[in-house]
This record gives sequence, structure tokens and C-alpha cells, in this order.
Amino acid sequence: MRRAGDLALRPWTLRDADQVLSAFADPAIRHYAGNLYDTAADAERFVTSRSRSWDDGTGASWAITAAATRTVLGHVGLHEMDPGLELAMVGYWLLPRARGRGVMTVALDAVSAFGFGRLGLHRIELAHAVENEVSCLVAVRTGYSYEGTLRHAMRYPVDGRWSDEHLHARLATD
Ligand SMILES: CC(C)(COP(=O)(O)OP(=O)(O)OC[C@H]1O[C@@H](n2cnc3c(N)ncnc32)[C@H](O)[C@@H]1OP(=O)(O)O)[C@@H](O)C(=O)NCCC(=O)NCCS
Repeated sequence: MRRAGDLALRPWTLRDADQVLSAFADPAIRHYAGNLYDTAADAERFVTSRSRSWDDGTGASWAITAAATRTVLGHVGLHEMDPGLELAMVGYWLLPRARGRGVMTVALDAVSAFGFGRLGLHRIELAHAVENEVSCLVAVRTGYSYEGTLRHAMRYPVDGRWSDEHLHARLATD
């Protein structure tokens, strides 16, 4: 099981483009992604759009790395951040080598604390495809309560199929 001290979160940089491409070559990440990033230009867009969201206040994203080796393990980020409503959504993925060891629970917990603390959010929402049971377990384990099922709220980018999503959320007061 991963502990907070084993992991480090840092902003994405253009030097990570190869890691982004390798992530989006993975079938599970492709299956559940909102967008696909398949070329060097796409990978650059992934990084620059995340930097821009820090600048314009619409998001806050991190590369999850192994503290000891600095190897990139995955991504976690707040997006669609609305400071007026004190609301954001959270999204995440891990490279296959980092899965099944509780890494995302630790990373999501840290990002939630940052969102409620430093960013002053009141509510963070987490949505996942209903078939993504592992993501559901991560959500519940990190205090994101299940609030309902959203019909055809996402479309799988690989085949264009619609999927229902579970909506989970955590409040600053939970
Ligand atoms: C979803 C994801 C981030 C989960 O992160 P993770 O750190 O590997 O998750 P964990 O190791 O904490 O596992 C979560 C739970 O699922 C269980 N689990 C893990 N892999 C599993 C599998 N293949 N089948 C069934 N259960 C599994 C774990 O035992 C754990 O259960 P517990 O809470 O009862 O102990 C990661 O699997 C991933 O990146 N998947 C591909 C992309 C994706 O789904 N992104 C999310 C889109 S919403």
C-alpha cells in the first residue's frame, strides 16, 4: 500500500510528453478518457492546457510521481473550477505499472485537501463510467459519496458509445 511520503505531485511540463503519449496508448486510459492524445502535438496540448488552467484559475493538475525515483505514475487534476460556486470536478488516471497499490487514494486525498484548503472549494465532484468499478471504489474510499446516476453523460472516445456515469461528490464540510 502506498503512503503519502512515497509519492510527489508536481505540475506537468513539456518534458513529460513521452509519458503522456505512453499513458494514452494504454487501452484502459483510452477507454475512460474524455479526450485522446495520440501525437507529439497532442501531448504538448495536454501539458499546455493544464498549465493554462493554473493561470486562468479554471483548474489545477499534477503529475503523480514516485518520490524516490521521480518516475511519472499518473495524473490527477481539478478541472471546470468555478471560484464563484466554489466548485470543481476531479479526474485521474494511472499508468498500468502504478495500479492496484492504492496510489490514487493517496493522490486524490492530497488533491482534495488542497482544493478545500488552499483553493477554498466547497464541493468537488467526481464522475466515472458506471462500468468502472475500480474508480468507484477509489471514489468511495476517499470520501466521495455516491449521489446518483447520470444518463448518457459521457461518450467513450474509442467507439463513440454513450455511457451512464455515477456522480460522486465530497464537500468541505464532510
Ligand atoms: C481507476 C484507477 C485510477 C484506480 O487507481 P488505483 O490506485 O489502481 O486503485 P486502488 O489500487 O486503490 O484500487 C481501488 C480498489 O479497486 C480494487 N481493484 C484494483 N484493481 C482491480 C481489478 N482489476 N478488479 C477488481 N478490483 C480491483 C482494489 O482492491 C481496491 O479495492 P479496495 O478499496 O476495496 O481495497 C486506475 O485503475 C486507472 O488509472 N485505471 C485506468 C483509467 C481510469 O479508469 N481512470 C479513471 C476514470 S474515472
